[in-house]
Amino acid sequence: MNRKVLAVLGSAALALSMAACSGEGAGGGGNDGDKPAELTIGVSMPTQTSERWIADGNSVKEKLESKGYKVDLQYAGDDIPTQSQQVDQMITRGADVLIIAAIDGTALSGQLQAAADAKIPVIAYDRLIRDSPNVDFYVSFDNYKVGVAQATALLVGLGVQTKDGGKGEATGPFNIELFAGSLDDNNAHFFFDGAMDTLKPFIDNGTLKVTSGQTKIEQVAILRWQQEAAQKRMEDLLTASYNNGTKVDGVLSPYDGLSRGIITALQNAGYKGADFPVVTGQDAEIASVKLIDDGVQNSTIFKDTRLLAEQAVIAAEAFLKDTTPQANDTETYNNGVKVVPSYLLPVQTVYKDDIKPVLIDSGYFTAEEVAAGQAG
Ligand code: GAL
Repeated sequence: MNRKVLAVLGSAALALSMAACSGEGAGGGGNDGDKPAELTIGVSMPTQTSERWIADGNSVKEKLESKGYKVDLQYAGDDIPTQSQQVDQMITRGADVLIIAAIDGTALSGQLQAAADAKIPVIAYDRLIRDSPNVDFYVSFDNYKVGVAQATALLVGLGVQTKDGGKGEATGPFNIELFAGSLDDNNAHFFFDGAMDTLKPFIDNGTLKVTSGQTKIEQVAILRWQQEAAQKRMEDLLTASYNNGTKVDGVLSPYDGLSRGIITALQNAGYKGADFPVVTGQDAEIASVKLIDDGVQNSTIFKDTRLLAEQAVIAAEAFLKDTTPQANDTETYNNGVKVVPSYLLPVQTVYKDDIKPVLIDSGYFTAEEVAAGQAG
């Protein structure tokens, strides 16, 4: 731990014990002396084009500020040099802990070395930072299971499987297409692996047919998870592989933004109503929750960003107190240099019927927001 953190926490403890003696509550927080407010957490988020990262950034910021920390929150516009520069600045401005959701999981080694030299702990947020020894902790979801859940939702949507994992009545053959996320995002590989392990037996036995023949992650990946690029790829697939009357029955999509691009391409090609292909998703973005509510998108995988933010804050505080955050996985996330101790949260599949119990009743969205397809 660096000297500043020790000094600040030491005097905060002293202030607290003095407050206790004088009968003030621990939360009273007078303004004298060094306090947590002098500790700054740098929070580096990839982009504001996706609503989920805005929710993540806001949650982390609010939770840290409510505990009296200063927060230096930056968004990098999905531009790698911008993110590197922002992290550099956080270090020079004296951040005491860094929480980073990387754009390219391999591009921050220099910054992380500078952080390590300055004894600043680094927490990888949702996306693992790769190829660096200087990643101290990882908070995320079980990303392989996200992929399994997406593939399962596709199978359920097609009627091949039931929601409880049983055999469905439909036997196919169904025409499907596959999409994956950005190859430089470690998560994209976990999602795709989980999905393909689940779909492979059905592809092998002929229940599912990937009409384009594109089944390798390199063929189906969408750089920077861009909605427009997904729309374009879906349009190209329709032109190249579905120009003879063959219909698309389902699309594996790993993220709601991509799903919306895919859905637009399908709608423009005339797909509608009951024949609309089964399209999966992830992140429970409000525009997609509305599409699910309207019966257009099949499902999404809900990752509660409030819980992820909470874990990031718990980990940051542990480091500030010179302790080790508690991991619940110390095996899965090898970043190429070391296994990064991780705290993984569970995920939940949301079909239309789950919107109310899972998203509305938990306060994640209001019923009005779902109806409008817009948060806030
Ligand atoms: C991944 C993340 C997904 C999704 C995607 C696109 O790293 O795990 O939940 O948000 O990025 O932003």
